[in-house]
Amino acid sequence: YPFLIQMLTDASEWSRAGRLWPADCSFCHKYNSFQMAFFPNRFASVRLTLATLLYSGKSPDGHHILSSARYLHKELPVRIAHRIKGFRSLPFIIGCNPTILQVHELYIRAYHMLSEFPQIKEQDMEARFCKLVQQLLDDHKDVVTMLAQGFRECRRHIQDETIIRSFLDTTLCSRLGIRMLATHHLALHEDNPDFVGIICRRLSPKKIIEKWVDFARRLCEHQYGNSPRVRINGHVAARFPFIPLPLDYILPELLKNAMRATMESHLDTPYNVPDVVVTIANNDIDFVIRISDRGGGIPHNILDKVMDYHFSTAEESAQDPRMSNLFNNITNSGNQSSPMHGFGFGLPTSRAYAEYLGGSLSVQSMQGIGTDVYLRLRHIDGKGESFRV
Ligand SMILES: Nc1ncnc2c1ncn2[C@@H]1O[C@H](COP(=O)(O)OP(=O)(O)OP(=O)(O)O)[C@@H](O)[C@H]1O
Ligand SMILES: [Mg+2]
Repeated sequence: YPFLIQMLTDASEWSRAGRLWPADCSFCHKYNSFQMAFFPNRFASVRLTLATLLYSGKSPDGHHILSSARYLHKELPVRIAHRIKGFRSLPFIIGCNPTILQVHELYIRAYHMLSEFPQIKEQDMEARFCKLVQQLLDDHKDVVTMLAQGFRECRRHIQDETIIRSFLDTTLCSRLGIRMLATHHLALHEDNPDFVGIICRRLSPKKIIEKWVDFARRLCEHQYGNSPRVRINGHVAARFPFIPLPLDYILPELLKNAMRATMESHLDTPYNVPDVVVTIANNDIDFVIRISDRGGGIPHNILDKVMDYHFSTAEESAQDPRMSNLFNNITNSGNQSSPMHGFGFGLPTSRAYAEYLGGSLSVQSMQGIGTDVYLRLRHIDGKGESFRV
């Protein structure tokens, strides 16, 4: 494997020297040449408020779809080029990790496919563009898992945690933005009176919470043999315009965490566990979803780590002998990852998404009792300043 050996030698030498992607390395040529061909700094991304998307109107001749496609056609390559620049500014030794390189290459490929796509002049072309966008969405669906895996493999080479945090925060949020814009465009073709693209005109937080409660309870039952019940209270009748997509990422993560903590703090009485309580509060500016569990809380010594990428107590719980009595316990699965927990990505990713949307995610632990997680999100058309995607 002369190529691999050369690559690893290059990597260790260059990282010792604190250098980034060496200009004279043959392996890097492909990646370096990308930057030569395109300077994303010259092109600013155009971020839109969701209110703009919501009220941009529908024209009977489909003109709104054509202009949305043209916007995407121009905007996506710019955003993707910024991501490629992000990969290239990673320390070389991280950038060489095969899984991270695979994602890097996915972005380069997407950039070329989009920027080589001809101008969108009529509907046929727009239909072809939609096919391409759909294909790219599918190709990139596992990117978060791949990044989690890749960084886990090479994080021992990194002393400075902030490099990982800022790369992942930026890359994951930008990916969320790109996926929101892309699925919004595709959804403009659908004729659902409750939706404008991906924006639901009358989203019911209670309904969407219930959907993810069912999902998390099924996973939980599969793993622990039982699951806590979930009570929803507060403004259960609230409805307002919002995008389900980010909630579809965040809610299952928070609910899984609450259910796991509940089950694992009651391993001796798995058929008698306290409920999880979800409270909804809605106002002019934002809405808040609080998830309260009685899963014992987060111990003092790990409280400031739970928001770090890759921090997880999955390994410790796998070692608890009582876990081996469970249905589908993680020790049997051969590694520390399971659908309930594993990568230590749930909280940091959810917080990054919430902040990207102008909101926040905060955790309050009552050590010995349980945990309250507050998810706060700004209204699209509220009194406060509107956020942009
Ligand atoms: N509600 C909670 N109660 C007690 N501990 C929690 C709670 N939520 C999170 N934690 C702790 O924080 C850690 C990190 O949570 P996070 O969701 O980021 O990762 P994970 O659940 O371990 O893995 P992943 O979510 O990526 O599958 C968990 O491993 C757990 O120790
Ligand atoms: Mg989790």
